[in-house]
Amino acid sequence: MDIMSAVQDACVSGQWLTAIILSLCCFLPSCLPAGQTVDYASSESVVSRQGDTALLRCYLLDGISKGAWLNRSSIIFAGNDKWSVDPRVSIVSNMGDKHEYSLQIQKVDITDEGFYTCSIQSERNPRPKLIQLIVKVPPKIYDISSDITVNEGGDISLFCLASGKPEPKITWRHISPSARKFESGENLNITGITRDAAGDYECGAENDIASPDTRTVKVTVNFPPSINELRTHGVRPGYTALLRCEAAAVPTPVFEWYKGEKRLSKGQGGIDIKNLSSRSILTVSNITEERYGNYTCVAVNKLGAANTSVALSPPNTAQYGTTGGGEALLACGILVLALSSLLCVY
Ligand SMILES: *[C@@H]1O[C@H](CO)[C@@H](O)[C@H](O)[C@H]1NC(C)=O
Ligand SMILES: *[C@@H]1O[C@H](CO)[C@@H](O)[C@H](O)[C@H]1NC(C)=O
Ligand SMILES: *[C@@H]1O[C@H](CO)[C@@H](O)[C@H](O)[C@H]1NC(C)=O
Ligand SMILES: *[C@@H]1O[C@H](CO)[C@@H](O)[C@H](O)[C@H]1NC(C)=O
Ligand SMILES: *[C@@H]1O[C@H](CO)[C@@H](O)[C@H](O)[C@H]1NC(C)=O
Ligand SMILES: *[C@@H]1O[C@H](CO)[C@@H](O)[C@H](O)[C@H]1NC(C)=O
Repeated sequence: MDIMSAVQDACVSGQWLTAIILSLCCFLPSCLPAGQTVDYASSESVVSRQGDTALLRCYLLDGISKGAWLNRSSIIFAGNDKWSVDPRVSIVSNMGDKHEYSLQIQKVDITDEGFYTCSIQSERNPRPKLIQLIVKVPPKIYDISSDITVNEGGDISLFCLASGKPEPKITWRHISPSARKFESGENLNITGITRDAAGDYECGAENDIASPDTRTVKVTVNFPPSINELRTHGVRPGYTALLRCEAAAVPTPVFEWYKGEKRLSKGQGGIDIKNLSSRSILTVSNITEERYGNYTCVAVNKLGAANTSVALSPPNTAQYGTTGGGEALLACGILVLALSSLLCVY
């Protein structure tokens, strides 16, 4: 017996459930009646976000018609009889004008994605309605490089892995005013890194379903010290001299001070040393003739050392002799003595 006549017989004899099951069987390609196809292309689609509740709408024509819901080829509901053991599925029915017979799926997951069929058995022809459920997943970064430290000139390779549906696009951003653009992708490779490339790198994973997920990696670039400036000013005997040494280095340098060949330390005859991360200040109080001379600041870290010297000398009395001592100190204070110009020449 041909399947369509079996369906009709079942309908006539009021065995609607058998009729539905038999007609559902026709979605399987092996038993589709000649000339009939299930048109997947024209099916409706419902997009839902993972974790949300999806509602697949279906309406019965009248109060007499019966419906059934299928997930692929397995029956979820036949009429109001629940065949599925999944507690997340239920029928939303509404006996208004349109006799709603919709399928509600709570906490939708990716495994729920696919084609659902609402089959309506009426006095007339069985009318299957195909609905494609599409489940989208917000972007989520699940793994990223740990913070790293590299020596200047070295190479780094950062990675950032994210899940999501559709597949998230991964972008990198250097959080810095001088940030340069990077190509998008899971890997960020920098060769011959420079000190200005240090800082935080933000990975962003983005798709059209939710706001991007972001995480950062801190990149530390080590480099040996270089002394940016060592300054002092002419000081009259009896006054206090301040020598300020400023260095650039990562990690933070350790400072040493010398007068000629002799290492200076705090507390030693009128000497005080204050360290402020990248800066060291040497104070020489109660200047006497023998405290004038050549002072050297040395900055050291594990990658190297740098030094710069400066001459501590009396102010030029020929030029400033007539002005007050305090003013002479102030005027001379603006003078910056670099390694190349060690003498306070006026
Ligand atoms: C639909 O079928 C798939 C595959 O058998 C299953 O993993 C999923 O949980 C089902 N979903 C519902 C809502 O029945
Ligand atoms: C970046 O480096 C990784 C590992 O070293 C490598 O697998 C990847 O192909 C590189 N990517 C690019 C864009 O060069
Ligand atoms: C400054 O640093 C030097 C070298 O590390 C150290 O000898 C000195 O005690 C430090 N001075 C102060 C005030 O911390
Ligand atoms: C400054 O040095 C002179 C000469 O060594 C000394 O006589 C004087 O007492 C010192 N003054 C102070 C305040 O230390
Ligand atoms: C100062 O001392 C440093 C280190 O000892 C030395 O290299 C430099 O030539 C000296 N400068 C002067 C002007 O004496
Ligand atoms: C200062 O640096 C020079 C080379 O740049 C080195 O020869 C010298 O020993 C250093 N002086 C000190 C006190 O570290």
